[in-house]
Amino acid sequence: MYCTMSLLYVKVLFSALCAVVLAHNKQPNIVLILADDLGWNDVGFHGSNQIPTPNIDALAYNGVVLNRFYVQSTCTPSRSALLTGQYPIRYGFQVMPILHGENRYLPLHLKTLPLHLKQLGYATRLVGKWHLGHSYFNNTPIYRGFDSHFGYWPGAIDYFNHVADGGYGMRRNLLTSWSTQNEYATHLFTRKSQDAIIEHNYKKPLFLMISHLAVHAADENQLLEVPDFAETNKTFGYISDHRRRLFAGMLTELDKSVGSVCNTLKDKGVLDDTIIIFLSDNGAQNTEMGYDNAGSNWPLRGMKATLFEGGVRSPAIMYYSKAKVKSAINSQLMHITDLMPTLYVAAGGNVKDLGTIDGVSQWGAITQGDESSRSSVLLDIDDFHPHSSLIGYRGRYKLINDSVINEFGQDGYYGKDTSPTKNPPYDVDLVLASPTNKAINKRLTKKKILTIRKKLTIQCTHKGTRPKPCDKNGLCLFDLVNDPCETENVAKKYPHIITDLSKQLLSYWKILKPQDKHFTDTKSNPIYYNNTWSTWMEHQ
Ligand SMILES: *[C@@H]1O[C@H](CO)[C@@H](O)[C@H](O)[C@H]1NC(C)=O
Ligand SMILES: *[C@@H]1O[C@H](CO)[C@@H](O)[C@H](O)[C@H]1NC(C)=O
Ligand SMILES: *[C@@H]1O[C@H](CO)[C@@H](O)[C@H](O)[C@H]1NC(C)=O
Repeated sequence: MYCTMSLLYVKVLFSALCAVVLAHNKQPNIVLILADDLGWNDVGFHGSNQIPTPNIDALAYNGVVLNRFYVQSTCTPSRSALLTGQYPIRYGFQVMPILHGENRYLPLHLKTLPLHLKQLGYATRLVGKWHLGHSYFNNTPIYRGFDSHFGYWPGAIDYFNHVADGGYGMRRNLLTSWSTQNEYATHLFTRKSQDAIIEHNYKKPLFLMISHLAVHAADENQLLEVPDFAETNKTFGYISDHRRRLFAGMLTELDKSVGSVCNTLKDKGVLDDTIIIFLSDNGAQNTEMGYDNAGSNWPLRGMKATLFEGGVRSPAIMYYSKAKVKSAINSQLMHITDLMPTLYVAAGGNVKDLGTIDGVSQWGAITQGDESSRSSVLLDIDDFHPHSSLIGYRGRYKLINDSVINEFGQDGYYGKDTSPTKNPPYDVDLVLASPTNKAINKRLTKKKILTIRKKLTIQCTHKGTRPKPCDKNGLCLFDLVNDPCETENVAKKYPHIITDLSKQLLSYWKILKPQDKHFTDTKSNPIYYNNTWSTWMEHQ
């Protein structure tokens, strides 16, 4: 009798304890906002006055700015690194984005971030771009770990008609979504994200990945599209470059979307239990090189698809109300492969479950100010047109092997603001009054904002003239701490660093899986599928 009673007592006590522990370790919701082709200099918190981004800036000033956050230089590799925690060279995904109708997909043996989170009890939702293959149904998001997907499988679509290269792209899970055609993509994805937040039952934690089309260029018919041309043209009349002006309109919608999402989280009562991450998949493209888009990485060197800082150093923010560290700049070296282990740890998982990955958990570094365990980042190795790069010495030195990736170079400085009329001054009140800042409501001061912003503004003295390219088959070394703009090759000065970093870089060739040849499979042609981008291998 006595025994039974005490056992019961122990049981009750134990379950009470359990409840306390669980309440304490409540798994946070995760909202990951991924911009497409957004450049270093496109956001206000990095020091540019040209295009106001009050919501993104407010997230930065209230959260932790990840100031040395590296991504892959193009879409597909970056997204695969994010979702697998592994460098793309391990599975042949280096360098090249998947072409329209290319029969290539994220290898099926790779376990994705949403799948790992599902095993920890999360509901997983993807809104927006996929770009990791759709030859077979089992390559698409809902077979790769997402409970639901609303968005498009290929690399980009038109903002209004949602067509790319003759194929309609918008899908709800596996089915084509016709009813949403002509709704401006950024608005549509915002609405779908808000629905996901509102409809969710928070007994389960939510992982929502918002993978925007913005600010990527649309299709050839009209490259840069805004919801209201007259308004954009008026608001940004001070920007002389016509395309940059449209870009500003597109970016404004992306910024508003961040505000709307924060607001909805607040209204739902879950903002304080939610980790919000904001980043870009790669650096901006710029019209100066004949490209479609008008982003800016100034004063950083290079652009999307190069291994210079402009291609791979991304604007990046993490906001979490329960983090010990708040309103801070973290300048430790981080890479997009770190997000999987970081979020897995945040969700209560053990990194050992993740197997062989290249990412390390930065959870302690970001939320508590611990020292990061990452000492180097492999930026990429191109085995087709040999060029490669690695950052070592905890972010200080960067080795580039053969920077001239094609006849255009793209290794200069682009996107300098050349407007004859002045930009408006930085509007701190706009940041304070932004929906994001109001939702967070943490009494940020003007002084604090300006102090953080000043620290984040990269000062370089170059005037934008193209530096001497690194020699063909030659090694370039940059001191990124003293020369973040990569103006001076210091290879001759530090032969021992060259030797050391070369050894590290060459060691990665041992795990590299060569790329396959890239080509469009004609059998994928949308004309066979009611003018949509469909799976096609299924039907062969
Ligand atoms: C756009 O604004 C400029 C003035 O900044 C004006 O000259 C031009 O006519 C406007 N374009 C259109 C199509 O309204
Ligand atoms: C640099 O590239 C050349 C040409 O591909 C190659 O022979 C050399 O081994 C590379 N060196 C390093 C350190 O990557
Ligand atoms: C084919 O496409 C049209 C729009 O072009 C759409 O209205 C129709 O429902 C589609 N048919 C099928 C079977 O999906």
